[in-house]
Amino acid sequence: MFEFIAQAPPDPILGLAESFAADPNPKKISLAVGVFKDAAGQTPVLRCVKAAERKLIESEKTKTYLGIDGLPDYRNHVRELLFGDAVEAARVAVVQTPGGTGGVRVAADFVFGQMPRATVWISNPTWENHLNIFAAAGLATHVYRYLDASRTGLDFDGMIDDLSSKASPGDVVLLHACCHNPTGVDPTPEQWHRIGNVMAEKRLLPLVDFAYQGFGTGIQEDAACLRGLLKSCPEMLVASSFSKNFGLYSERVGAAVMVATDARSATAGMSQLKRVIRSNYSNPPRHGAAIVSTVLADPELKTMWHEELAEMRSRIKAMRQLLVNALRDGGAKRDFSFLLNQSGMFSYTGLTPMQVDRLRTEKSLYIVGSGRINVAGITPENLPSLTESLLSVL
Ligand SMILES: Cc1ncc(COP(=O)(O)O)c(C=O)c1O
Repeated sequence: MFEFIAQAPPDPILGLAESFAADPNPKKISLAVGVFKDAAGQTPVLRCVKAAERKLIESEKTKTYLGIDGLPDYRNHVRELLFGDAVEAARVAVVQTPGGTGGVRVAADFVFGQMPRATVWISNPTWENHLNIFAAAGLATHVYRYLDASRTGLDFDGMIDDLSSKASPGDVVLLHACCHNPTGVDPTPEQWHRIGNVMAEKRLLPLVDFAYQGFGTGIQEDAACLRGLLKSCPEMLVASSFSKNFGLYSERVGAAVMVATDARSATAGMSQLKRVIRSNYSNPPRHGAAIVSTVLADPELKTMWHEELAEMRSRIKAMRQLLVNALRDGGAKRDFSFLLNQSGMFSYTGLTPMQVDRLRTEKSLYIVGSGRINVAGITPENLPSLTESLLSVL
């Protein structure tokens, strides 16, 4: 039977990582894969994570299964980080998931189980895996407008128009809380306010993907949109991730969160989330969530985490500025200062697929076909050759 299996297309981003690894050019640069890199081009283990792991090695007494919903302390920390005291704990159901991807998938399976006819509205463009995940869960998707004609800023009127005139009551709208992947373009606080009102008027359910808390402006600041949204939309789903802000990529630490209007609905929702998980991976892995809990429960380690997160955030901002300056000083005809208004690791550069292709084949500079760059891949050392390559195709 297996003789008839067709080859699946490679993942567009992870496929690029493979080509990068095979490229013999010693000057190759990759701005493709979405991981943070420090000034030395490494993706480091945070100091607070190392310290928490040392503590865990000493104190861990068992490797027995976690509950289906994960570590209780971890789940409380997730709720606290997302909402602070903006919502009563009894209205919130949190389940620990393998990464933010697991969070989106559990939320998607939950939606399919409870509201199978809902269409999921996703921004055009969005993180490529959203499409795969919702399709795998059996849900239909439609796109709403997101980028303006320059492809570097938000088409807010288009977005609002699509949500208010095309989506139907009971549909789900996927929103990126901050650091929109792949564009780096986020709504302003006023725009978030309007989005919340439209969602409430049209009776749409927000599914907020929060993979970059703390990478935009700060931990609390980045969550402000979520807390604001709660005022108009008392029910929502959230997928959160500690891959980026704790550098715990391979430990797979995330959550799916449901906010209900009352405790009874939250308890029932929790039972359905657990049902989804039980038939999927049964229960989540312990280590990464134990690290997050250990750091957040220890005032010294928590302060260290805040400092390290701030270091990552400022490095990304500094690289944005350096790139804009270098392109301007190198004589680029186009003004790239729009990169400074974008937020998080990613930016749409406006490079065409042909330019991206030339950069890879002629310069060994790896960028996703859409022109998305990972700003965190820029270092003071690779900046001159990066700028020269970009200028050669502009
Ligand atoms: C928008 C978005 N959602 C979810 C994820 C998934 O994160 P994780 O690695 O925690 O599964 C990512 C990671 O790239 C992302 O960019």
